[in-house]
Amino acid sequence: MAILPILCYPDPRLHKVARPVQAVDDRIRTLVADMLATMYDAHGIGLAATQVDVHERLVVIDVSEERDQPLVLINPELVWTSAEKHLNEEGCLSVPGIYDGVERFDAVHVRALDAQGQSRVVEADGLLAVCIQHEMDHLMGKVFVEYLSPLKRNRIKTKMVKQQREARG
Ligand code: NI
Repeated sequence: MAILPILCYPDPRLHKVARPVQAVDDRIRTLVADMLATMYDAHGIGLAATQVDVHERLVVIDVSEERDQPLVLINPELVWTSAEKHLNEEGCLSVPGIYDGVERFDAVHVRALDAQGQSRVVEADGLLAVCIQHEMDHLMGKVFVEYLSPLKRNRIKTKMVKQQREARG
């Protein structure tokens, strides 16, 4: 397993649209293992392939307290969404240190392949539902700060660019 570098906003590669995974093979299973290792290493609850510069429809999630319930969603598609939406505070491994409110469906059903290539439907609410919607946005090239006002987004962009410049020294 390898820890992969995570792209940081406003990296333009975060806006690429992912294409479907063609086959759940050893290459994909290695990517899944690396993405899980990367997510746990970064103390995140979700990671999309887009964030590690792989533009294929694959996300990993673990919202459990014990960090022992990995969920792998390959080629995820929302098949049902609740009528109700609520504002939730979100963060993102690609936008470190920034948290803000985004409106999401309260509950979703998502059809996806698992790491064995089996199709199943996951019924999610609460934090898991929010996380699934956030990660699926990444696959469409969308970062959560794009839901915020242009003023807020520009402030975040400036802050991120400054942080990244300082990190490089
Ligand atoms: Ni994110």
